[in-house]
Amino acid sequence: MVKIAVLGHGVVGSGVCEVVETNQSSILRRAGQPIEVKRILDLRDFDVPYRDKLTKDFQDILQDEEISIVVETMGGTHPAYEYSVAALKRGKNVVTSNKELVAAKGAALLQLAKEHNCNYFFEASVGGGIPIIRPMHLCLAANEINEIAGILNGTTNFILTKMFKEGMDFASALSQAQELGYAERDPSADVEGWDACRKICILASLAFGRQVHPEHVYTEGITRIAPEDVEYAESWGGVIKLIARARRREEDGLVECMVSPAFVHGESQLAGIDGVYNGVLIRGNATGDVVFYGKGAGKLPTASAVVADVIDIAKSPGTSKSLTWAECDENITVERRELKGDSYVRLSAPEGGMARRTVERLFGSAVFLTRPKQPADELAFLSGAMEESALENKLAALEQENLTLLSRIRLVDY
Ligand code: HSE
Repeated sequence: MVKIAVLGHGVVGSGVCEVVETNQSSILRRAGQPIEVKRILDLRDFDVPYRDKLTKDFQDILQDEEISIVVETMGGTHPAYEYSVAALKRGKNVVTSNKELVAAKGAALLQLAKEHNCNYFFEASVGGGIPIIRPMHLCLAANEINEIAGILNGTTNFILTKMFKEGMDFASALSQAQELGYAERDPSADVEGWDACRKICILASLAFGRQVHPEHVYTEGITRIAPEDVEYAESWGGVIKLIARARRREEDGLVECMVSPAFVHGESQLAGIDGVYNGVLIRGNATGDVVFYGKGAGKLPTASAVVADVIDIAKSPGTSKSLTWAECDENITVERRELKGDSYVRLSAPEGGMARRTVERLFGSAVFLTRPKQPADELAFLSGAMEESALENKLAALEQENLTLLSRIRLVDY
């Protein structure tokens, strides 16, 4: 019998209790022994059938020698970090869905697990129910992974899908996401891209072996995307998605990493990932592109990933798996202004034909876009590939010519 404790009885924590209870027999078959939730830590009072398991005191869990696995579904860095450290130091395995903590402290917690011959597992921290951490670490182990790109946030993908499929504006789509319980009352972490940033940092750290810190990654959310941008993306033959991406630069091993809205062509494997679904594309040098797709959030999908980690530990007690990346305080990301790519630009251009010639002069290879009922004083074009710094200089030159920037969205070609 493996006894576990669950820290936090919110959406994911309660899902873990439910999955362990509901799927008892298949879990027993796969783990080789029964798994029981012995304690649940939460500061709130609940009226649940398993009231006797509830505690408000973490020491009840830490001091309990029968509990070998601590499931941390509290979210946030404190006290989740302190509780995880204390558990690992006592040789208890820790399983988490907490992407904020893994992105900030993953290297240190993995090292601590190794030192104490136990495990720190976090399959549920990226992509909810989509298996991604273990496939990357084990099934793709023979590859050099050079690039990762994905739709890693369900809330923003739901909002963008509503904007494209139902013509909603950002504010209405966000309210609907909140009504349906996808977006939090304070939706900043999702709509500003921070959640996707934490997730790409976890994947990049795992793929490239050194901690990529969220604060070093340029992150832009979807709040400024207008219905006009949606129309131009459609006329171009694509959609706009919040894309989190990381690429190892061959010449120096630095990581090009960014989270931003992007024009994605309709033929891309990422273009058809809609609603709250997530998709992650991993580019391996032996496999080529591998795409993972599924429910990236929600109670039971996320709990499924947590319980899978618990089963993995239960199958080989007393071992420490080699999941790891090195602590790295330095910034190993490439400065944003050095990154190269194509962009969509939308301008307010009072002088019509003159404006077009100005754009042609500054951007030799600009491709102009149109949309239905395009106003005479609006101009949209694709810039052609160039460094971000060069694009910014050209946009500043446009402003000098009284052409006002309304929108700029990057293009990706996955
Ligand atoms: N807020 C996240 C999302 C939840 O919308 O994807 C899962 O991490």
